[in-house]
Amino acid sequence: MSDHPRPPTARYLETLATGLAVLSVTQLLVGLWQGREYEVGRGHASLAAMLTRGGPSEFLAAFHLWASHAMLAGALLLILWMLVTGAYGKEWRGRWWSALAFAGSGLLLQVSGNLLPLDRHAVQTAVIEASIAGRVPWVGPWLSERVLAGPGFGAATVDLWYAAHRLVLPGILVVATAGLAWPGRVRRARPLAVATILPLSVAVLMALAVGAPIGEPAGPADANGYDALPGWYVWPMHGAMKGFDSVVPGWGWIGAVVLPGLVATALVLLPFGSQRVSRRALLPTVGILGLALVAVGAFFGGRPASLIADEMLTEEPADSALVLAIRPELAARGATLFKARGCVRCHGLDGSKGSGGPDLTFVHRKHPDPDWYRRFVRNPRSVRPNSTMPAFALSEDDLTAIAEYLRNPRPN
Ligand code: HEC
Repeated sequence: MSDHPRPPTARYLETLATGLAVLSVTQLLVGLWQGREYEVGRGHASLAAMLTRGGPSEFLAAFHLWASHAMLAGALLLILWMLVTGAYGKEWRGRWWSALAFAGSGLLLQVSGNLLPLDRHAVQTAVIEASIAGRVPWVGPWLSERVLAGPGFGAATVDLWYAAHRLVLPGILVVATAGLAWPGRVRRARPLAVATILPLSVAVLMALAVGAPIGEPAGPADANGYDALPGWYVWPMHGAMKGFDSVVPGWGWIGAVVLPGLVATALVLLPFGSQRVSRRALLPTVGILGLALVAVGAFFGGRPASLIADEMLTEEPADSALVLAIRPELAARGATLFKARGCVRCHGLDGSKGSGGPDLTFVHRKHPDPDWYRRFVRNPRSVRPNSTMPAFALSEDDLTAIAEYLRNPRPN
């Protein structure tokens, strides 16, 4: 039973695995080269310098970006292919776990590397990912503080993510790459030599054709901004989060953290299961979980950023002509509702200390119009298609009170 899959499938799998290893080794070398020039504190400036200089340094920066996308996409394809052909039994175990480690470190390298240009999109997406960690009940605030290396996004966050990107994750990737390329017990399935440079060629072509754009440098406001579109690789998690949130507001963390965790655990344990439990029972279970994640991503995911991931959402500008007088009693009732309805879970007490959502201290400057809050809180996605805030089914009166509270400038 463990001799799945047979040639020629085995040969194609070996070819893809080896091709990914070739790409990975190239990527690691390019990363080392770039690391010499990248200065953590001046991330935006040092990357902008590489890109504007042109020639090889511009090409290598673009290659580094596209190779990271190609590695992740290739690893997902490999895992899916191994899954459906049953390539996780005894002979394939090493390959299977290597592919999982390759995809896992590739994903985290992608997420951490995405921050390094330190443009507005980079910082905002980092803040969004950390805020999702912050939504897990009980451990959330602790978790988001670990991820950000402090109570909020700052220089320490960049140091931590860069250390992970340069030391820890490449270490895991090296081991995974060795596991993918190692002939091991699958001796008969020799890769198709020419095709092993296919993944590398894709990355080279994309780098030449598209290049690597860089956005405006991030400012302090971006450390609390949520207007960036998420990259394609976190799309299923965002979708699952929104899916759960639309069933029970505030339960999004089950989709964003618990569900992907279960899928990952099931995949890691699969080789053990395949010997005891029949493959007929396991495959559908894992398959259904995975498909559910993809389906929910497609349904609730919103718009993913372009592959170059530099997109920001644009919203209608605040209309300063709408300065209506604040009604203090209504605002006070709104303050009570803000606590009672669980807004404080993500926005902190009186909205000034977000963990899972932004600080709302200055939101009245952004949105003076009470109607904006009513629309947004009832259904955030009707205002911002990619919003990750859950919708709240509140009465018209309650919405009006909350709107009055939020558009009221905070005391002090
Ligand atoms: C599960 C976490 C969560 C909960 C609970 C939550 N929010 Fe939010 N909120 C967010 C996130 C995340 C954003 C960031 C913007 C986005 O994704 O649309 C946000 C954004 C906002 C904004 C817009 C801020 C801006 O700068 O434009 C307002 C206003 C707001 N929330 C009000 C509320 C109110 C009122 C409640 C309670 C009824 C609430 N929120 C409950 C997560 C949450």
